[in-house]
Amino acid sequence: MAASVGAPSGIGLSQSHAHPKHQCLVFSRSSWSIASKFVSFPSSFSLRSVENTKELQLPRLTAVVKARAGPGHMDVDLSLSPRVNSVKPSKTVAITDQATALLKAGVPVIALAAGEPDFDTPSVIAEAGINAIREGYTRYTPNTGTLELRTAICRKLKEENGISYTPDQIVVSNGAKQSIHQAVLAVCSPGDEVIIPAPFWVSYPEIARLADATPVIVPTSISEDFLMDPKLLEDSLSEKSRVLILCSPSNPTGSVYPKKLLEEIAKIVAKHPRLLVLSDEIYEHIMYAPAAHTSFASLPGMWERTLTVNGFSKAFAMTGWRLGYIAGPKHFIQACAKIQSQFTSGASSVSQKAGLAALSMGYAGGETVATMVKAFRERRDFLVKNFGELEGVKISVPQGAFYLFIDFSCYYGAEIEGFGEINCSESLCRYLLERAQVALVPGGAFGDDTCIRISYAASLATLQDAFERIKKALVALRPAVPV
Ligand SMILES: Cc1ncc(COP(=O)(O)O)c(C=O)c1O
Repeated sequence: MAASVGAPSGIGLSQSHAHPKHQCLVFSRSSWSIASKFVSFPSSFSLRSVENTKELQLPRLTAVVKARAGPGHMDVDLSLSPRVNSVKPSKTVAITDQATALLKAGVPVIALAAGEPDFDTPSVIAEAGINAIREGYTRYTPNTGTLELRTAICRKLKEENGISYTPDQIVVSNGAKQSIHQAVLAVCSPGDEVIIPAPFWVSYPEIARLADATPVIVPTSISEDFLMDPKLLEDSLSEKSRVLILCSPSNPTGSVYPKKLLEEIAKIVAKHPRLLVLSDEIYEHIMYAPAAHTSFASLPGMWERTLTVNGFSKAFAMTGWRLGYIAGPKHFIQACAKIQSQFTSGASSVSQKAGLAALSMGYAGGETVATMVKAFRERRDFLVKNFGELEGVKISVPQGAFYLFIDFSCYYGAEIEGFGEINCSESLCRYLLERAQVALVPGGAFGDDTCIRISYAASLATLQDAFERIKKALVALRPAVPV
């Protein structure tokens, strides 16, 4: 059914060519502002996006005409923005969802895919949230976060990280992910490059792409504990380089950058006036001594060009509270605040009260966080010892976070009856899900296809069970691996 449109001649109104079944009206860019004023629609139709009269730098604008109800039903133009099409969905979320669906269907899957602590939020934090609701602390807060929380964050950054900020140099967001998004959006122009050492957290390259920037991947190797070679960094930098993302302790490898190496990186960064550093320190408290955390902004000359990201999700087991923050020079932080003001506004008032309680638990989260870290350490030691005994498997012992990134590529090439060939991290993960019923994340999603990520945010008993299942499935593969 065609829409009856009373468009003046010469306005450039045409049917969409994308799909013959889609009854869409396409306005050429030059004609859009005129067309939206003159086109009239029968009362049974609604025009979306009619307010938008700006010249957009997109290939075309599509006005969708859609029947509200009744016999005149029309299809909807399903085309999406090129920005969406350039982004990959998160593999970790996809695998966790798949494992959950299998569990619901009665398959006893052990899910070691998600990046979230298995502990409950400590009760003192939860109580603060409950009290906030009871006391009616349920209204909008200032866009950048409450002054009391930002003041507490400044205190934490000074005492624990040796970096000085004032509350107007902090923006509190709905999770560190949002903080990273806003920072990259705030500083990158189309065509700028975002330098990302691999293996990387799955979201970094996609965040760069969403900001119309280009991710530039710097590989590392397991034999170097996945730490970036400063020489390789230097070779990857140009005048297009705008942001270097560092993540220490790292998701997915658990590597921790020693201070000396960060100092070498800082020297290279200092040679590139356009280059900023986004230092993602969200796993900072989940660290296994003698490894020690260094905040990149604390290094000489780096404060001015570093955006420090942190959050409450991991150390305080607060993933669902959605609370994170960014700290940096006011010029950049104000830009992040501007984006947030038109994006989500301030973080949840209740979560901010809970975050304040988290920061009151003592240095690095006090005894409560130390107890969780101790448990993570025991689990890490168990997995490192046991997987380390499997022939051909390579491990870099993680110094932080709660992930093991193991090189299982010695099993690639195996041909399994009823399954097919295992030739990459994705097929090995599928095999382990199918035959061992353990859900893990393929290293390919993190930029290293030789490895698989195991999250050890699960009880020791669960990990023991998972290890036995994986071992059995891998041993069954052995005869099928070409020598
Ligand atoms: C390295 C890293 N940075 C940031 C985040 C985002 O954390 P949040 O829950 O605060 O958005 C994650 C979550 O998995 C992460 O692994």
